[in-house]
Amino acid sequence: MAAEKGRVVCVTGAGGFVGSWLVKHLLSKNFTVHGTVRNPQDEKNAHLKSLENASENLKLFKADLLDYKSLTAAIAGCNGVFHTASPVPSGSVELIEPAVKGTLNVLKACCEVNVKKVVFVSSVAAIAVLPNKPTDRPMDETFWSDPDFCRSNNDWYCLSKTQAESEAFEFSKRNGIDLLSVCPTLIIGPMLQHTMNASSLVLIKLLKEGYEELENRLRMIVDVRDLAEALVLVYEKPEANGRYICTSHLIRSKELVQMLKKLYPAYKYPNKFTDPNGIFSVTSEKLQRLGWSYRPLEETLVDSVESYKQSGLVGDE
Ligand SMILES: NC(=O)c1ccc[n+]([C@@H]2O[C@H](COP(=O)([O-])OP(=O)(O)OC[C@H]3O[C@@H](n4cnc5c(N)ncnc54)[C@H](OP(=O)(O)O)[C@@H]3O)[C@@H](O)[C@H]2O)c1
Repeated sequence: MAAEKGRVVCVTGAGGFVGSWLVKHLLSKNFTVHGTVRNPQDEKNAHLKSLENASENLKLFKADLLDYKSLTAAIAGCNGVFHTASPVPSGSVELIEPAVKGTLNVLKACCEVNVKKVVFVSSVAAIAVLPNKPTDRPMDETFWSDPDFCRSNNDWYCLSKTQAESEAFEFSKRNGIDLLSVCPTLIIGPMLQHTMNASSLVLIKLLKEGYEELENRLRMIVDVRDLAEALVLVYEKPEANGRYICTSHLIRSKELVQMLKKLYPAYKYPNKFTDPNGIFSVTSEKLQRLGWSYRPLEETLVDSVESYKQSGLVGDE
């Protein structure tokens, strides 16, 4: 199907867990997509080419976040950018540079080729990593993680997201870019890509005796497909502004395990739970006021487990 004029967007990190669902959603909405991947020939990105409408409306570009020219080539000719690419958890301080400098490179490239609208995938990691969190009410978009606190805990991923998002807002303000950021909590859901991503592993480990004991913390969960819809919603709604927390379900680890057990009784689940180390939560009220809604958790869990079974990541029961 031919794409409509004015609906050309770039998605960085197109082959990742979030990127793949976002590309799929955009193609289904008749956008033309410039997807950046580090290696278009790599088998790990092959799934993108078989998405519906991909043969007509998806063009893959080889780009690295630290290679400014490669980003400019991918963004040229677009009306907007969705920036999802970022190194996801590793204990290493090295992820700061691609996350922070990479985000600024994306924004500079937007300026160079006159793109004015950018949706940035940030994280609750940029909201809720701070000392003395409120426990009597959920945190909203006015909260920012404390970079010194992240540093003192060697929490490089949270620091990378906090710094990337705050510098992105500063840069955008100075340079006339309309920046929207979406801050998801733990993202799960069926995988389109064949390589494992960090957040899917959290759920897979629950099904495979991956934890001897589990902290009975409050888990905040969003479905990757609902996130993809949120990203496009903030892009399309002219009244959208600033930051949006994206989360759907608040559930204790123990209840999550009980829910999975009911659905899939034969897997080997953790049965030792430790007391949680502090309780806090965040709210997506702002995003819901914009018109966002989400599917039930049970649907997310079933679709996730079925997708892991299909790709052999967990056995049939
Ligand atoms: N999953 C979650 O629970 C969660 C929660 C909150 C926020 N987020 C955010 O969501 C976004 C997507 O994460 P994800 O869960 O989809 O993880 P993912 O599957 O690991 O995707 C990350 C993507 O970033 C790309 N990337 C990393 N470093 C890069 C670099 N130097 N240059 C170009 N591309 C680079 C990766 O490309 P390669 O495939 O080439 O490595 C991959 O496509 C990230 O910004 C993450 O911080 C995720």
